[in-house]
This record gives sequence, C-alpha cells and structure tokens, in this order.
Amino acid sequence: MNKQIRVGVVGCGYWGPNLIRNFRALADCQLKVMCDISQERLAHLKSLYPEVEASTDYQRTLDEGGVDAIAIATAVKYHYNMAKASLLAGKHTFIEKPMAASSAECEELIEIARQKSLVLMVGHTFLYSPAVRRIKQIVDSGDIGEIRYISARRLNLGLFQKDINVAWDLAPHDISIILHIMQQQPSTINCRGSAHITPGIEDVTSMCLSFPKERSAMIQSSWLDPRKVREMTIVGSKRMIVYDDVAPIEKVRIFDARVERPPHYDTFAEFHYAYHYGDVYVPYIKQEEPLKTECQHFLDCIRHGTTPLSSGKAGLDLVRILEASSKSLKLNGGAVELGAPAGAAPAAATGHAPGTPGPGTAGKPAPAVTARA
Ligand SMILES: NC(=O)c1ccc[n+]([C@@H]2O[C@H](COP(=O)([O-])OP(=O)(O)OC[C@H]3O[C@@H](n4cnc5c(N)ncnc54)[C@H](O)[C@@H]3O)[C@@H](O)[C@H]2O)c1
Repeated sequence: MNKQIRVGVVGCGYWGPNLIRNFRALADCQLKVMCDISQERLAHLKSLYPEVEASTDYQRTLDEGGVDAIAIATAVKYHYNMAKASLLAGKHTFIEKPMAASSAECEELIEIARQKSLVLMVGHTFLYSPAVRRIKQIVDSGDIGEIRYISARRLNLGLFQKDINVAWDLAPHDISIILHIMQQQPSTINCRGSAHITPGIEDVTSMCLSFPKERSAMIQSSWLDPRKVREMTIVGSKRMIVYDDVAPIEKVRIFDARVERPPHYDTFAEFHYAYHYGDVYVPYIKQEEPLKTECQHFLDCIRHGTTPLSSGKAGLDLVRILEASSKSLKLNGGAVELGAPAGAAPAAATGHAPGTPGPGTAGKPAPAVTARA
C-alpha cells in the first residue's frame, strides 16, 4: 500500500480533535472524514479543517466514506458497537482507552479483527511517550535492579464522567504503563473508592495490583483534588525512578538510593540496615508528542501488517483489571483474583456477564452502558 491511508475519526468532543490534528499532520495519511452527532462540534472542526469531510452519520461514514481505517473517540459505552461495525465493514480500527466496557466485548472485537486480518489498536497513549519509553529502556537494562513496587497518582479536579468511574477514566494510563514495565499480569486486584459527587460513580479510587514474587503496584485516581498530579515511582532493588509527567522539564529522575539487609549477623546489636544515598541523575529525553507517535504507529501497523504495541490483547488485559477493580469496589476492597489469562477467561471469573459491564459501582448495580448490535 503506497498511497496515503484514508482515516475517519468518530467523536469530535474533548479528545477526538487531538486525533484529528495528528492524523491530518501525518504525511502518509489522508484524514478523510470527521464524524460526530453534534452539528455544533462538526461546525467548529470544519472551521479549522475546511478540506476534511464532515458527517453526522457513522454507518454512512463506514459505508460510503471511502476510508481504510477508523479511529473511535466516543464515550466508552459506544466503543464496542462502533468498533464492531467498523471491523465488520473491513476497516482497520483504533479505539480510545479503555477498549470497551467489558472483557467479553474486547474478546469479541479481537476475534473479528483476527478473522478479517485487520489491525485493532487501543489508545494507550502513554506507551508512546518519550518519558515512558526511556523508563522502559532503563528498567530493561537492569539499571534499577529487580522491581519491588510501583506507585502512581493521577489526580485533578474533574472532568467528571457520567458512565464510568474515575478508575475506568484515569487508571488506564497507569495500568498500561505498569503492565508494559512489569511484563506480567497481576494475580489479584483490590480497589476501594467513594462517590462524593455523582451517586454510584466513584470519583476517588485506590487500587492495588499484586504480582508474583511480592511485587505490587498502587494506583490512586481522583477527580476531586485541587492539584493536577501525574506521578509514578518505580522502586527497584538497586535504584528508584520518579516520573513526574506534569514537570515541564526533568520529567524522569533516577535516584541511586536503596536499603539493604546485612547478609548475616550474630547478635541483634550487630544488625543494621545499610542505607545507600547516591547521586540523582536526569536522563536526556527528547520532547515529542506521544499522540503523534501513536497515530504514526497505527498507520505503520496497517501498512506493514504488524501487531500494535497497544494491541487488542493489551486492551483486553487492561479491561480485565478494571472489571476486577469494579468487583473489588463492591466488596469494599476485597481481593479479586484475576482468573484465567486473556482468551480463556469465562465471564463468571470477572463477575460480569457478557454485555453487562461494571465501570461504575458504589454498591449498586452498574448502570447499563452497552447496547449490543
Ligand atoms: N488517550 C488519552 O489520553 C485520552 C484523553 C481523554 C479521553 N480519552 C478517551 O477518548 C474517548 C472520548 O472521550 P472525550 O472526553 O473526548 O468524550 P466527549 O464526550 O467529550 O466526546 C465524545 C464525542 O462523541 C460524540 N458521539 C457520541 N455518539 C456518537 C455517534 N453515535 N456518532 C458520532 N459521534 C458520537 C459526542 O457527540 C461527543 O462529541 C474516551 O474513550 C476517553 O477515555 C483518551
């Protein structure tokens, strides 16, 4: 395929325009259609990009839009239906995070993409950020030793969502980074939270992922915090990394710090932990817009028939963790086993029957968010 890949973006609300801007700027892409049911949003985007077609009819965009690929940036409750329609129409499909409202939906989308040999990619944007790519390189080089735990905080005031809780909205970023770094699935999930503003939709959550070999990750998510915080600490046996995504420069710092137990001692008086305080260093990280890299990666995967870094499988792995977090919320933080690996997980293992997802809980049945095609 030498010609430009023709892309349509559906959903022109808060996030869609960022996809539109990036796809439009890429040389091997022709941004063909922008689709939204809101005439107002379309009129605004048409004023910015008059050469791009605008449509209020998604099915017509699929049938008559002349596109090779679709990028979906609508609310999570629409992802499954829209992605299924796109794949069945033979379009390579990009879905914003989280991939869908249940693991059963994700599994079905993966299977359709497989049968039709289409690229299915999920918008785990941070995997394409230069800072996270650098952190991954440092961890893989063995520089920080064995990972002991990761803690993440993603806090700010709003944007309140109506159909998903804060864990489904903000934690996907942290979970995708953590899974990418750990290269392993957690065995159990605990999640506590509370709904202060919208009944049934938690606006503050605290999630713990337990991994084999005593490794763990803690994720705090909030729409109710006065400061914008996007922070992650990765504690290794030799060194520790602090990643502050809000910092304008020096987003990643590596602390040569560790604590060691003495190898052996005879009396309690001889027992002293060895604290090591060394230098702090800041690796050089080239600034690049993660979304641009992500959009280019989608095009590259279509062109070369390769599997995306944030594939449908990665989207499914993440949604299984979110489902388990919703189940744990209902158990007031009780541990939920993640169950069988992707592809083999029966619906019962995650606590939700297919098509009855659980992105918002707070002790009540989750609001019905999915209408299957
Ligand atoms: N990757 C990231 O960093 C990032 C950041 C923010 C949001 N997101 C994701 O992007 C997605 C969209 O979030 P948002 O905040 O932009 O939502 P939004 O509500 O602001 O925008 C969604 C748009 O979809 C449109 N829409 C709804 N139904 C439609 C239909 N049938 N046909 C065409 N258009 C339709 C709405 O009119 C609206 O304009 C979500 O999955 C969210 O999680 C990702």
